[in-house]
Amino acid sequence: MQSAKKPVNILGIETSCDETAAAVVTDGRIVKSSIIASQTKLHEKYGGVVPEIASRAHIEKIYPVITEAIQQADVTKDDVDAIAVANQPGLTVALIVGVTAAKTLALILDKPLIAINHLHAHLQSAIVTDESLHLPAVALIVSGGHTCLYDYRSPLEPKLLGSTIDDAAGEAFDKVANILKLPYPGGPAIEKAAKKGNPNAIKFPRSMLGPDSLDFSFSGIKTAVLYYCRGQDMKGENKVDSMSKKQIADIAASFQAAIVDVLVKKTKRAAEKIGAKTILLGGGVAANSQLRTDLQKMCDSTEPAKKLLIAPKQYCTDNAVMVASLAYHKFKAEIFANLTLEPKATG
Ligand code: KG4
Ligand code: ZN
Repeated sequence: MQSAKKPVNILGIETSCDETAAAVVTDGRIVKSSIIASQTKLHEKYGGVVPEIASRAHIEKIYPVITEAIQQADVTKDDVDAIAVANQPGLTVALIVGVTAAKTLALILDKPLIAINHLHAHLQSAIVTDESLHLPAVALIVSGGHTCLYDYRSPLEPKLLGSTIDDAAGEAFDKVANILKLPYPGGPAIEKAAKKGNPNAIKFPRSMLGPDSLDFSFSGIKTAVLYYCRGQDMKGENKVDSMSKKQIADIAASFQAAIVDVLVKKTKRAAEKIGAKTILLGGGVAANSQLRTDLQKMCDSTEPAKKLLIAPKQYCTDNAVMVASLAYHKFKAEIFANLTLEPKATG
């Protein structure tokens, strides 16, 4: 049994998509190391993540990344109290690499294994360093594969309030960037282009799915951008090639404004529904400045104002700090997995 005062060091492993990551976090808050090997360069030319390429790259990187995380944390393997791994949701062929590495380490080091939901870990990334969380909170998790709203009252049981019924917000950013022939990943490229554009230039649709819905739908706006660029029948010339930089910037800014508008309004709706005192924001799209600013304005404008906690930029996109940090709560509650743990695509 762990003595109450002894610090708890957890090695976290993350391989759910296209980042191979490992981190050592002490007591859920003190980040001793965070190593991320990004595969962006490998997937760039395909305009999206290719699962087989991702899987192979994880296999190549997993051992050096874990080794570096342990070395940089300046701990011995004996100092590690548990091995945590994101086992769902994600690409199964990618998750399996992290899960296998974690199970192997747990077995040979004789340490407990902790299974982590990748989306719950994104949520945790907004509160890794925050000590004073006023509950209940609504968490908006916006990543490449998911867009979810949670009712958050404890780290172990976030309750799903709504999620996307088609494309995720990040996926929409990536696909629209592809249409606009902007580089991959699309989110940062659209954000950069949008800075020089007019967000009111084009009125793209904002799908609210009815007055009470907390679900999202982003495939309509993606199609609207496609039609705008290629014509309703898709038979017209690809106008993107002949558009000026300003026209591309206007499309990017108008698209970003529509996505952010929906995300902020739905978060407000969820907050009203559960009487949230705090809003948490995490996931890759949480790096978006417009979203951060508009969500802050929304939080300031309510009576009483809500506190907004946003994941630091380095923990918005996939990382293992969020995995190890959340695992600390499972460690304290003694919620351990066994060596039959499997990766799961859904979650
Ligand atoms: O959370 P994440 O690293 O991976 C998943 O779990 O999916 O999120 C990646 C997503 C990509 O779709 C990327 O385009 C988006 O986050 N993203 C952004 C920004 N930075 C990354 N979207 C909008 N604005 C950004 N600045
Ligand atoms: Zn993610």
